[in-house]
Amino acid sequence: MFSIFGIMDTVDIKQFGQIVFFTGAGMSAESGVPTYRGRGGIWHRYRWEEVACQKAFDKDPLKVLEFHELRRQAVLKCKPHRGHGVLVRTEQEHPEMAIITQNIDGLHQRAGSKNVIELHGSLWRLRCPECGMKVEDKGPKYESYTCRCGAWLRPDITWFGDYLDEAVIARATETIRACDLFVSIGTSGVVWPAAGFPELARAGGAFCVEVNPEPTELSARFDLVYRGKAGEILPAVFSISAPGK
Ligand code: APR
Repeated sequence: MFSIFGIMDTVDIKQFGQIVFFTGAGMSAESGVPTYRGRGGIWHRYRWEEVACQKAFDKDPLKVLEFHELRRQAVLKCKPHRGHGVLVRTEQEHPEMAIITQNIDGLHQRAGSKNVIELHGSLWRLRCPECGMKVEDKGPKYESYTCRCGAWLRPDITWFGDYLDEAVIARATETIRACDLFVSIGTSGVVWPAAGFPELARAGGAFCVEVNPEPTELSARFDLVYRGKAGEILPAVFSISAPGK
């Protein structure tokens, strides 16, 4: 729970103008949502080639939809933790703060965060690959597997091999370029373009902080590294207190 400098430095957010919290699967881990690559990670239990790419969907849409339904049911049993609460309160004091997340679980929004850029889409939205219709669908089971036009609906998330939404990437990139404080939480930093974000933030002159219990490929690029869990580090380090969530 200490920074790599061996002391528990705190970060006074009042010193910064634009703040970006960039989150990955580790942000949701203490809520009970498994990460992708760590111990017990989703990609150790499932082959993404069979459940998380367009080719798999074209071959067996029902199997892919059922996999995502299981994920929805698992996420619905999870609750945001104290670390999510810190980000909510930071935004209340600092309305220009942004969260850029790779997570599709919607936990930031469930905690109460408003300005959330979802890089990889959402588990709670479906889209029709034929007519382009999008539908919010938030229950444990999908209301329908098919669109009015008759095509299979697919989760509106970025699978392996998919292009990211250009407008979303442009918004994220602009936000990071303009920030003074960039805090990366719980991402292994191996997936692009997210892997390039700390460098982008640095190039724009931001102070860069990493929160992760494990070293990552990007750790050397940060000005300050906290080795610990999001739910413990965020309440301890950011000057805004987080009453139990
Ligand atoms: N607090 C903070 N970080 C944590 C915690 C925790 N409690 N628990 C684990 N971590 C860290 C791990 O050490 C790891 O570095 O979270 C990171 C999770 O890494 P990944 O599983 O690779 O998740 P992520 O980086 O979000 O993956 C990126 O890859 O499969 C795709 O689309 C999927 O959005 C995902 C993308």
